[in-house]
Amino acid sequence: RGTMTVGELAKALHKDASEVIKKLLFLGVMATINQELDLDAIQLLASDYNVEVELKIPVEEDKFEQFEEHDEAEDLLGRPPVVTIMGHVDHGKTTLLDAIRKTNVTEGEAGGITQHIGAYQVEIHNKKITFLDTPGHAAFTSMRARGALVTDITIIVVAADDGVMPQTVEAINHAKAAKVPIIVAVNKVDKEGADPERIKQALTEYELVPEEWGGDTIFCNISAKQRIGLENLLDMILLVAEVQEFKANPNKRARGTVIEAELDKGKGPVARVLIQHGTLKVGDSFVAGVCFGRVRAMVNDRGKRLKEAGPSTPVEITGLTEVPQAGDPFIVFEDERKARSIAEKRAVTLRQSEMGANVRVTLDDLYKHI
Ligand code: GTP
Ligand code: MG
Repeated sequence: RGTMTVGELAKALHKDASEVIKKLLFLGVMATINQELDLDAIQLLASDYNVEVELKIPVEEDKFEQFEEHDEAEDLLGRPPVVTIMGHVDHGKTTLLDAIRKTNVTEGEAGGITQHIGAYQVEIHNKKITFLDTPGHAAFTSMRARGALVTDITIIVVAADDGVMPQTVEAINHAKAAKVPIIVAVNKVDKEGADPERIKQALTEYELVPEEWGGDTIFCNISAKQRIGLENLLDMILLVAEVQEFKANPNKRARGTVIEAELDKGKGPVARVLIQHGTLKVGDSFVAGVCFGRVRAMVNDRGKRLKEAGPSTPVEITGLTEVPQAGDPFIVFEDERKARSIAEKRAVTLRQSEMGANVRVTLDDLYKHI
């Protein structure tokens, strides 16, 4: 895989090859002089000699951008919008998603609803919409930042009885930084003391001005709990989607983003991935962050097994070797060997950047790196 042979490494360290071989043996690595060492063995050996190795991986080998394929205009087909629900803690994001989902699930499917999934798809008037839920706690800043990157439209939920709060403002900033259209859903209008007009007024400070006041922000008054105004909100989403004409090429290897991942006792590592380009198929080899794998099984948000999944589809996949992180990029390669080698190189780059003490990650950095 294009690293160093034992001989080359010995030379670089100014040591005898036979000594290096002995040392390697001592460290549990059996090797001959012409054998290529993997990155871990090189680092192990170097640290044993108290030598700092700088593993220079050609940038193009571990960056995903190089694998970006150019799409001709005629390859691009319409795809469902990806809508992220953001807002302050307890303002009703999950309740809203549950309500939309229940309203739009047919009888037969109702039993199959999985509780609390972060990503799912509904169909309204024969048009699909993909929704992503985001946690409202301050600790989830980075996840929300990433959420904003995979999204086409942001719905900012504001509880009418509470008002514009810190995470409301943060969500607005994320959406603006990602240049994503915003729809404001003023929630809990059923509650006593709810004052939607006050919310509208407060949001003008953040340049979200309703149409009736001469601005261009769509405001919808809703009650997620009482299911008031949901139809109108969904119509508004479809309207924005129609204007924006979201497209992707379904006829290529898949790329996407990990939304959630965990270790399942029975299934092993499980990842929920939003497919953004191309089509993912069972058996495909992929890299997710610094992990790799082959799609063993794939199910949609209702637990239905899929053989393939196109753009804007959230899927749950098994067949990973490790658990990736939420926000990790996901990309399919031609074979498992290639996927493994890319994943390993990415792991080394990550380790190096982690060793660079006190790397501060700002929101801007997040946008740059993903
Ligand atoms: P986090 O995920 O913790 O950020 O919260 P969330 O925004 O997802 O809020 P969640 O949907 O969990 O709702 C919080 C509380 O508000 C729950 O007790 C809901 O029942 C209640 N709630 C949500 N929507 C409405 C509504 O329209 N009217 C009323 N009266 N209560 C609501
Ligand atoms: Mg929630």
